[in-house]
Amino acid sequence: TGQDALSRIEAASDLDALEALRVAFLGKQGSISGLLKTLGKMTPDERKEEGPKIHALRESVTAALADRKAALEGAALEARLAAETIDLSLPAPEMPRGSVHPIAQVMDELAEVFADMGFAVASGPEIEDDWHNFTALNMPETHPARAMHDTFYFPDKDDEGRDMLLRTHTSPVQIRAMIAQGAPLRIIAPGRVYRSDSDATHTPMFHQIEGLVIDKGIHLGHLKWTLETFLKAYFEREDIVLRLRPSYFPFTEPSVEVDVGYSQQGGRRVVGGSGDAPGHAWMEVLGSGMVNRRVIAAAGLDPDEWQGFAFGTGVDRLAMLKYGMDDLRAFFDGDVRWLSHYGFSA
Ligand code: PHE
Repeated sequence: TGQDALSRIEAASDLDALEALRVAFLGKQGSISGLLKTLGKMTPDERKEEGPKIHALRESVTAALADRKAALEGAALEARLAAETIDLSLPAPEMPRGSVHPIAQVMDELAEVFADMGFAVASGPEIEDDWHNFTALNMPETHPARAMHDTFYFPDKDDEGRDMLLRTHTSPVQIRAMIAQGAPLRIIAPGRVYRSDSDATHTPMFHQIEGLVIDKGIHLGHLKWTLETFLKAYFEREDIVLRLRPSYFPFTEPSVEVDVGYSQQGGRRVVGGSGDAPGHAWMEVLGSGMVNRRVIAAAGLDPDEWQGFAFGTGVDRLAMLKYGMDDLRAFFDGDVRWLSHYGFSA
């Protein structure tokens, strides 16, 4: 019956089922198509009677199929929109993040420790001239100490006829700071330095931090206090013991090499205690001294009026000692696994 057809159409659950009904009713072999074919065999009276009913049935079935199709398509669209909805309030997936390189971290820590003691951060160029790197630091051209530095030279001289080189230490920043800022002065200068040297404990590029204090009446006691205070703060230990040994640097007089006591713990050097205590030893960590009068004069200050001390140390080694790394070269390999193990979060 017609009502039966309409309710089956209404009940079709998807477009495939609906298409099957359309074929069943209106297809070539469909039941309604079959009814239409019977009209030809009817008498005119019968046709007048049955014709409008059959056509009305076909029209209502056609309309019901179209309605149901529209409804099913609408529902499918709704379902797709619901499935593709993005909830902007959901937490974002974790993205891989970089980390702060241990050297950068340690330079920041050092700057912070010295800032607490009133030191400002100064810097100079990594491409230096030999006057700042050597001559002004009391190493004239013929000085044997120049040979100890395994210097990378550039083939050409600068505009003033000076040899150009990659700075071999951060000490030229002493000269630049005194010339630029005059006295009194209290600076540190962390940065890259270069020497033609490479093995397990030496890389051609490494990092130093320089310290310089210029003022009136400065003496070795100020140097010792400063180094002790700095090392205690940096290593976060009160039991740091220093040993000062006479040494030689052309730019300091007198010169002092500084050792710290340490002990071996679980295959690792741990700084602390006297190096003379049982199970302990001394390790050199710093070069330092009272700034040579000739250096103060070369930088344009009067050495009778101004005195000072300077020190220089390797940042890479300070980092290894504090954080327990054992191969200097790992700092510069760029191995992401090493970096994510030893790196610091920003
Ligand atoms: N510039 C020296 C070096 O590279 C270290 C140093 C700095 C020593 C300042 C004394 C004073 O070995």
